[in-house]
Amino acid sequence: MAKIAFIGLGVMGYPMAGHLKAKGGHDVTVYNRTAAKAESWVKQHGGQSAATPAEAARDADFVFTCVGNDDDLRSVTIGPDGVLAGMKAGAVLIDNTTASAEVARELYEAAKARGCDFIDAPVSGGQAGAENGVLTVMCGGDEAAFEHARPVIDAYARMVGLMGPAGAGQLTKMVNQICIAGLVQGLAEGIHFGKKAGLDIEKVIEVISKGAAGSWQMENRYKTMNQGKYDFGFAVDWMRKDLDIVLSEARRNGAALPVTALVDQFYGEVQKLGGKRWDTSSLLARLEK
Ligand SMILES: NC(=O)c1ccc[n+]([C@@H]2O[C@H](COP(=O)([O-])OP(=O)(O)OC[C@H]3O[C@@H](n4cnc5c(N)ncnc54)[C@H](OP(=O)(O)O)[C@@H]3O)[C@@H](O)[C@H]2O)c1
Repeated sequence: MAKIAFIGLGVMGYPMAGHLKAKGGHDVTVYNRTAAKAESWVKQHGGQSAATPAEAARDADFVFTCVGNDDDLRSVTIGPDGVLAGMKAGAVLIDNTTASAEVARELYEAAKARGCDFIDAPVSGGQAGAENGVLTVMCGGDEAAFEHARPVIDAYARMVGLMGPAGAGQLTKMVNQICIAGLVQGLAEGIHFGKKAGLDIEKVIEVISKGAAGSWQMENRYKTMNQGKYDFGFAVDWMRKDLDIVLSEARRNGAALPVTALVDQFYGEVQKLGGKRWDTSSLLARLEK
């Protein structure tokens, strides 16, 4: 049993911290900016809550963060009450936020300067993956720190991989989002075309999902897309945040991402349609407006 701090009990963090307590059997202290969520987590899972990230991280062997973006992450880590102000030497900071590779490298250096380790560990698998403890975790950092942290991360993961040095986890998550962006647009266009052609979409997908066009997005999203339901899942606002990180990194490394850039603009149009919190499959709503 390890002593763990978990910062950020959102859609993802709340169940992930729960698995560290229930499945991992660890001693978990949580911190959430909105204290009511931390209170309800403790009521549900046991453990304890702290008033600041630094306080939660004191004496912890492993400190997890899962907040919104780069700035949020900086404020809960290197801010005055951030976890690094409380962490003991030898402890490992594991960040599950989807953030830039740049902030990952910055936090790696800041952790090292305090005698701690840092692993960027963004996740894929969505709310359902977090609730069922079957996330894919893409890690960047030192091998020894990764091997030390891996059995703990396993509590909420189905697949955990070390992709390279600090920032490599975030870069891998960027590849993941690039692959999803183009794919969802293709799926939206396929369904849009099928409807215009007068086909029965249920029948079409039943057949083509077993062939070369099949994908997780097709299996899990075609029914709700066909019904025009988008009030669930990974929000368009989050996707735009991720694609902004992707496109900035591409400007730096020279990668050509024409389709990703276009789909990012399409998501901008979905936001204008009122779809900021809609699921990313709502690219179809833009075609049908
Ligand atoms: N949702 C998904 O399907 C999914 C899938 C993969 C990856 N992700 C990534 O995982 C991360 C978290 O996503 P989520 O869906 O859990 O988001 P969320 O439900 O909006 O939760 C965000 C959490 O971060 C906290 N937070 C945000 N800014 C903060 C700040 N400046 N200081 C302190 N706490 C702060 C929030 O506290 P409050 O409760 O006080 O607001 C909340 O606990 C994001 O980077 C997202 O891109 C999400």
